[in-house]
Amino acid sequence: MPVTIRSLLERKRRGERFAMLTAYDYTTARILAEAEIPVLLVGDSLGMVMLGYRNTLPVTMEEMLHHARAVARGAPDQLLVGDMPFNSYHASDEQAIANAASFLQAGMHAVKVEGGGRVVPLVAKLIERGIPVMGHLGLTPQFFNLLGGFRVQGREAEVAARIESDARELEAAGAFAVVLEGMPGPLAASVTASLTIPTIGIGAGPGCDGQVLVFHDILGLNRDPLPKFVKVFAPLGDEAVAATRAYAAEVAAGTFPDDAHTYS
Ligand code: KIV
Repeated sequence: MPVTIRSLLERKRRGERFAMLTAYDYTTARILAEAEIPVLLVGDSLGMVMLGYRNTLPVTMEEMLHHARAVARGAPDQLLVGDMPFNSYHASDEQAIANAASFLQAGMHAVKVEGGGRVVPLVAKLIERGIPVMGHLGLTPQFFNLLGGFRVQGREAEVAARIESDARELEAAGAFAVVLEGMPGPLAASVTASLTIPTIGIGAGPGCDGQVLVFHDILGLNRDPLPKFVKVFAPLGDEAVAATRAYAAEVAAGTFPDDAHTYS
């Protein structure tokens, strides 16, 4: 059964927690579909994970769409969310609507935009045009220059209150879910309790309706130091290094290819 926005909202009503993971390519999308991960995010984190940028700001729509099309081919039944990259919804509402629409043409079912306040009217406009929107509050990586780095948000009462009100405004504008990133667990739990749409936490504790992590992080494929909130579920990065060393050693020794891997 294809995962839909409606079925995600039903999960919240039933109190059923769910997982979201990033996917940037066809093979990963197939693995996540096989694992029955309901929501896949083609996150702008692909700029760092796949393209080696130091942050997400250089990522372009063209790069996002290239990866989005590959993911759509690999996971036809999951709910697919395309992350609007920096500068793709800044110039004007027209620019934002055109870019969001091209995500849907690339096979995504929804887009994600970072921030509260300023983006709330835009969220309403996207929804009016049939483009479902996921919000993203707290430690929003596209704002790291303003936030003074990748810092936990909402420890001060004023910032916490703004996150709470932004979340309610996003819901009122029609967003179908909101990512809560890098904030104290009790704040995320309180936002979650105040909304009828699901919250999806990352570094926001267990009180959210769903959780999201970067696929490469949970498999130890990311070789950079990982933040506290990431759990590595299988150290595949180390295994990949060992396996490729073993392959190179067999090639050097002349033991690969052997008879079993050679046409007679
Ligand atoms: O770009 C991304 O991967 C994200 C999340 C991890 C929420 O925005």
